[in-house]
Amino acid sequence: MEVVIVPDSAAGGDLIAEAMADLLRRKPDALLGVATGSTPLPVYEALAAKVRAGEVDTSRARICQLDEYVGLPYGHPESYRSVVLREVVEPLGLTDEAFMGPDGTAEDVAAACADYDRALAEAGGVDLQLLGIGTDGHIGFNEPCSSLASRTRIKTLTQQTRQDNARFFSGLDEVPHHVITQGIGTILEARHLVLLATGEAKADAVALAVEGPLSALVPASALQLHPHATVVVDEAAASRLK
Ligand code: F6R
Repeated sequence: MEVVIVPDSAAGGDLIAEAMADLLRRKPDALLGVATGSTPLPVYEALAAKVRAGEVDTSRARICQLDEYVGLPYGHPESYRSVVLREVVEPLGLTDEAFMGPDGTAEDVAAACADYDRALAEAGGVDLQLLGIGTDGHIGFNEPCSSLASRTRIKTLTQQTRQDNARFFSGLDEVPHHVITQGIGTILEARHLVLLATGEAKADAVALAVEGPLSALVPASALQLHPHATVVVDEAAASRLK
């Protein structure tokens, strides 16, 4: 695992956007896995700026979601489909056809999960998966105690994660209880994992993921198993590393 400490989140965004741009120059139809939440926004902004400046051609790029709320109606502004379309797909000038995600509105959620794992494999696998990290060490929505071999499946959000995400909704009651998330085993199949963490609130989770023992109690520690994992942290998030 490679750990890169950057001065701030903008520098982290620039670094990862350049890695994505470099990948797209080598493989124009690369499949980029994207996370939602606050942390990755500087990455998407920096990559969109490169597109506008003509530094990278994203016309053949493909985007896939990491996770999705269960039960939000299609088109809900906080469904991760809507968020990824708004924050990634549209700024990069891509069409909806370049984008795939799990169906959080499906009646048969288990089938939707299996369909998504199959679709990722049929698409040739994820080339670069961008990850955030929860304060409890989750990646995607694999909360502590998730199996390190898990596949895409439905998970129940912890109260902590629902509270963390309530800022995107009009109140805690609006935050769904369930999500579909790529499993840790699914995530580990991406060719390159890039985790971005910024801010002191993530410092304990980063230290446990990078330097703690491999443990299902800290899902992000699964990155230790991956042959090509990069952890990009600002100085605050790096502050508890030894
Ligand atoms: C969301 C996701 C989550 C977030 C994590 C951190 O797609 O995968 O694991 O990355 O909850 O969220 P922020 O960046 O908002 O602190």
